[in-house]
Amino acid sequence: MGKLDGRVAIVTGAARGQGEQEARLFAAEGARVVLADVLDGPGEALAKELGEERAAYVHLDVTREEEWAAAVAFAKERFGKVDGLVNNAGILRFNELLATPLEEFRAIVSVNQTGCFLGIRAVAPEIAAAGGGTIVNTASYTGLTGMAGVGAYAASKHAVVGLTRVAALELAPKGIRVNAVCPGAIDTAMSNPEGVDPAATGELYRRLVPLGRIGRPEEVAALALFLTSDDSSYVTGQPFVVDGGWLAGASLFRAAPDES
Ligand SMILES: NC(=O)c1ccc[n+]([C@@H]2O[C@H](COP(=O)([O-])OP(=O)(O)OC[C@H]3O[C@@H](n4cnc5c(N)ncnc54)[C@H](O)[C@@H]3O)[C@@H](O)[C@H]2O)c1
Repeated sequence: MGKLDGRVAIVTGAARGQGEQEARLFAAEGARVVLADVLDGPGEALAKELGEERAAYVHLDVTREEEWAAAVAFAKERFGKVDGLVNNAGILRFNELLATPLEEFRAIVSVNQTGCFLGIRAVAPEIAAAGGGTIVNTASYTGLTGMAGVGAYAASKHAVVGLTRVAALELAPKGIRVNAVCPGAIDTAMSNPEGVDPAATGELYRRLVPLGRIGRPEEVAALALFLTSDDSSYVTGQPFVVDGGWLAGASLFRAAPDES
């Protein structure tokens, strides 16, 4: 028996990275999953791999209200209902605040924050109509603390934590639980931008993160599964950090596990 037997979930940004692993894990746990993304080729290929009984791909730019309506209609047509949502789509740009162009700030807020809001607004009524369910929003380590060089991103992720809390309060009477995952550094395309040496990144996280390594997208998917399944039946309105201990505080000792 799977932890998500009988459930139908939309996962945004599901073509790769954390969203891909969430879609794979949810399908393996019995859910039928609508994979939504703007990367149509990889999204369609993943849906095909998971099989049409378990998965279907829909093009969805999370910043576009009308595309949300179409995605929800598609999900209901394919699988009869929607009772789960993972707002995972996101973008990151590096820039100091004083050098950040307004358009860049707006673009980040549009995907990370407005996309999450539009998702909640489009899908929550369907979850309520299905008798209740779950929403998992993807915030970040930087939704709970600052980090120089990612001001627009951190602002948008703090907003996701706020949205999560308010949505949990407002949607609890409808039987909808709303929580957030707050990943630290996770090994995906986002954290491996072109031109950055992977060996240098690996060494950075070996020193910076108490558990001594970058996280795997599967480890975020496991938390999203917990928050989507009945294992978390009394949990709502909370941000959950999955970061190898990074946010716990600074250490004067060597962060990486001792190799001696
Ligand atoms: N990788 C990390 O270190 C890290 C850390 C903390 C939080 N996060 C968050 O986790 C989430 C997943 O990121 P990831 O690490 O898998 O990165 P990723 O870049 O591999 O995946 C992001 C996915 O979102 C999709 N996407 C981007 N804009 C979209 C839009 N407008 N509409 C629909 N889909 C869109 C992309 O096509 C891609 O498939 C993001 O919200 C990100 O901010 C990532």
